[in-house]
Amino acid sequence: MPDVDGNNEAKKYYTDIPQTSKNYFLKGSNSLDWGMKNRLGRIFNPASGKTVMLAIDHGYFQGPTTGLERIDVNILPLERYADTLMLTRGILRTIIPADTQKSIVLRVSGGTSILKELSNESLAVDIEDAVRLNASAMAVQVFIGGEHERESIINMTKMVDMGIRYGIPTLAVTAVGKDMVRDAKYFRLATRICAELGAHYVKTYYVPEDFETVTASCPVPIVIAGGKKIPEPDALKMAYNAIQQGAAGVDMGRNIFQAESPIAMIQAVRAVVHNNETPENALELYNDLRNKKS
Ligand code: 5RP
Repeated sequence: MPDVDGNNEAKKYYTDIPQTSKNYFLKGSNSLDWGMKNRLGRIFNPASGKTVMLAIDHGYFQGPTTGLERIDVNILPLERYADTLMLTRGILRTIIPADTQKSIVLRVSGGTSILKELSNESLAVDIEDAVRLNASAMAVQVFIGGEHERESIINMTKMVDMGIRYGIPTLAVTAVGKDMVRDAKYFRLATRICAELGAHYVKTYYVPEDFETVTASCPVPIVIAGGKKIPEPDALKMAYNAIQQGAAGVDMGRNIFQAESPIAMIQAVRAVVHNNETPENALELYNDLRNKKS
């Protein structure tokens, strides 16, 4: 029977409350489709807007790197402290329990080893496999200024197109050749090219001078790689500076899994990234956790 009381009807439909429409929390991501946003929201914590990605994909071109000889033994205990695991499908399928609650960023480029020219990569994973593996993003290496610059850029744009079809974001990983200068000017160029051509977020390296110009000129979020192992206090300082200068997180490998205490280090990095802890406080946390363990 239809409602006779018009006021009741208005109440039920909250006719006085306009439907809200929230802006998406991540830089440059507001116009993305729902699936893309949902996946990015599994990588970046919506509360802090940041991410701690644990990068363990090094084996795809350099074999069993120090600290990654046994991922089941050395890395699985760190998994609970990461927001995201960045890895290959081989390690995902063989080692990572399928009931993990962590988001997965799947390495999808490859094809060369440290014995050859590294920039000579192709796409090495089919988008359908990324879908099957429930990847939250796909990572493609881009070699700006490298010997195979063009191919690597086209690898990325192909993945962006395929990812858009299925709602999976693409992370462009800027790789720097051994003899190339790593400065803000280079990273402004590299990150901007990746973003202009469709990358949904970009991984780069931190540089001590003018890093804020790199994050400012890139219209999508930037995360920093850790790079070669440096002393723990320096790595925490680097992560802190990057976050304060506009990075949306870290995609850190060696400076976590090669630390004297990887479990303490990943928690200290989390404190810097998500809680804006100073490097001094984070180092104190690192030492406390490390000493508790021994
Ligand atoms: C390898 C990668 C690594 O994931 C990246 O370099 C991050 O690891 P690290 O912090 O050890 O540099 O993309 O090509």
